[in-house]
Amino acid sequence: MAMGVFDSGVGGLTVHRELTRRFPTADFVYLADQAMAPYGGRGGEEIVDLTRAGCERLVEAGASLIVLACNTASAIALRRLQQTWVPEVRARTGRPVNVLGIIVPTIEAATGLPWTYEAERLREEGEKRESLEITGVFCTAATAMSRVYEIEIDKRRDDLAVFSEPCPGLAGLIELGAPDEELEVVVRDHVDALRRRVGRHPDKAILGCTHYEIVADVFARELPEGTPLIHQPSAVADALERYVTRHPEYDLGAGAGRVFLTTGKAGPQSERVSRFWGAPLTFDPA
Ligand code: DGL
Repeated sequence: MAMGVFDSGVGGLTVHRELTRRFPTADFVYLADQAMAPYGGRGGEEIVDLTRAGCERLVEAGASLIVLACNTASAIALRRLQQTWVPEVRARTGRPVNVLGIIVPTIEAATGLPWTYEAERLREEGEKRESLEITGVFCTAATAMSRVYEIEIDKRRDDLAVFSEPCPGLAGLIELGAPDEELEVVVRDHVDALRRRVGRHPDKAILGCTHYEIVADVFARELPEGTPLIHQPSAVADALERYVTRHPEYDLGAGAGRVFLTTGKAGPQSERVSRFWGAPLTFDPA
């Protein structure tokens, strides 16, 4: 058995890499749905169907615990899969299978509070806060439209104001291995759009699309110097360590296997991915 990691493309590698550091002996199967990437501009039902198909493929490949290393799939499809697909696949295979997302750990990292915490509203409705900390979330259009970061952070912290900035097209450019100069222009435009909308730069930023973590250095350059970035890979790995300790029923294997599958064009990934990965990386056909 193995841990499955799913994304529309190469973005989930950022989470995968951190997970393999934390669980070095576990077997991993990574699936990139590159035939259908990017997901960010697709409709809700389509994202649910594609994510379900990806999870099915990972179960076939031996995954017991699947991490949706994709904000778009986590925001749009996770709850549906947990409610419908997980019970069905458990009954069909007769073994423990589960699917987890990456938004809960990111919100825990952004708020410094456990997911189960819900703020007691001590303030009167309409009463103003002295100061608000601005959290900017750079993400896909589908994630921004779900408003998941705004809703969930607001439930926990009334001193944080959250603004999601959709960056349509950016994940696609990263997927294609676009050069730095091109990405810089696009990222600068989005950082600027957020600044104009809010009236100032954010105090901290969430890279709320796993593809963007590959170009975290570009975001760091375009945001005001020193803006803290919430890094999803470490937040997700911290949460998963706690989850696995509480749930020893999931067999993650012990052979340190590393399988990389794609629904798209198999073979070596872009130069940008190799640079991020530290070595050439090849995907096999799913
Ligand atoms: N990497 C994904 C995310 O975290 C999906 C990007 C896309 O396919 O548009 O949202």
